[in-house]
Amino acid sequence: MSIIDDLTNIAGDLQKKATLELSMEEVLDLKESFFGKKGKINEVMKNIRFASNEEKPLVGKKVNELKQKYLASLDEKIKTLEKAKLNEQLMNQRIDITLPGRRVSFGDLHPIRKAEYELVQICESMGFSVATGPIIEDMFHNFEALNIPETHPSRDMHDTFYLANDKVLRTHTSSVQIRYMQNNRPPIKIVAPGQVFRSDQDRTHSPMFHQLEGLYINHNVTLPELKYALERILKQFFNDDFPIRYRSSYFPFTEPSFEVDVKFSSTGEWMEVLGAGMVHRNVLRSVDLDPDTYTGFAFGLGIDRLAMLKYGISDIRAFYENDIRFLRQGK
Ligand code: DAH
Repeated sequence: MSIIDDLTNIAGDLQKKATLELSMEEVLDLKESFFGKKGKINEVMKNIRFASNEEKPLVGKKVNELKQKYLASLDEKIKTLEKAKLNEQLMNQRIDITLPGRRVSFGDLHPIRKAEYELVQICESMGFSVATGPIIEDMFHNFEALNIPETHPSRDMHDTFYLANDKVLRTHTSSVQIRYMQNNRPPIKIVAPGQVFRSDQDRTHSPMFHQLEGLYINHNVTLPELKYALERILKQFFNDDFPIRYRSSYFPFTEPSFEVDVKFSSTGEWMEVLGAGMVHRNVLRSVDLDPDTYTGFAFGLGIDRLAMLKYGISDIRAFYENDIRFLRQGK
């Protein structure tokens, strides 16, 4: 059989297969088996050297014809099948616009942070501006300048966390009073919110909690002004309806000093929420202010305590367990 005959047979085969409905895989196989490197056409062409000189150009022509007619149509088929496959994929991932939307849940502020912002806002409306200081504090700012010498028993009362190099985690925000007075001259009217630390833990004490310190220094500042400021802050924070009481007290950095308790509406229990007093002469001296020229008041308010009262929470530790269901309640 001549090469031409072989090629004619191949053309017949291809013609038959061309009319069949084929899958992608079958079309690819077909292409490979006729036109591939080891395909039928190449097999036949290996015998070209046995062809006569008249036959050779005819063979070339025949092969070109086969390629033009069938290879092109096979490639066309492959393209069509690819398109169909893509279409099907797109149809399957169609979006159902009748489905209900997915609800996005928004974050919210932690109740302590909320209470802090509210208190700061109230104080700002009364003319206080906000100051801050470091959480890791030295002995001078946390104790000495506040008239708490090393031998003073109240250093033990603070249950201080001591760090290396004579540093401590600040036990109160009163340290910010000192830092501010070192860098600013009166009149001074600031509040300083922030974290404080004490090694103490129960229903109303957490080793980390939050205070808002207040400081007002000017000529002739009086105790009634302090009481007025505190009552105004508490009244606004609680919308008037929490009973408060004053108790005289002792702090090394104020003289006279007192504390304010607020009544827990659910249990009738009184809870201490702040300490306050007239700034001690020794504190003014420690920052080079003349106590005969300037006077002032200071207060330190427990933000966690106030938040407990406002939101009716009887255990302070609930704030720090980060149970999202609890934290959402105050919304
Ligand atoms: N620093 C005190 C404490 O942590 C609270 C306090 C009391 C702050 C009286 C003051 C103050 O500024 O005048 O217990």
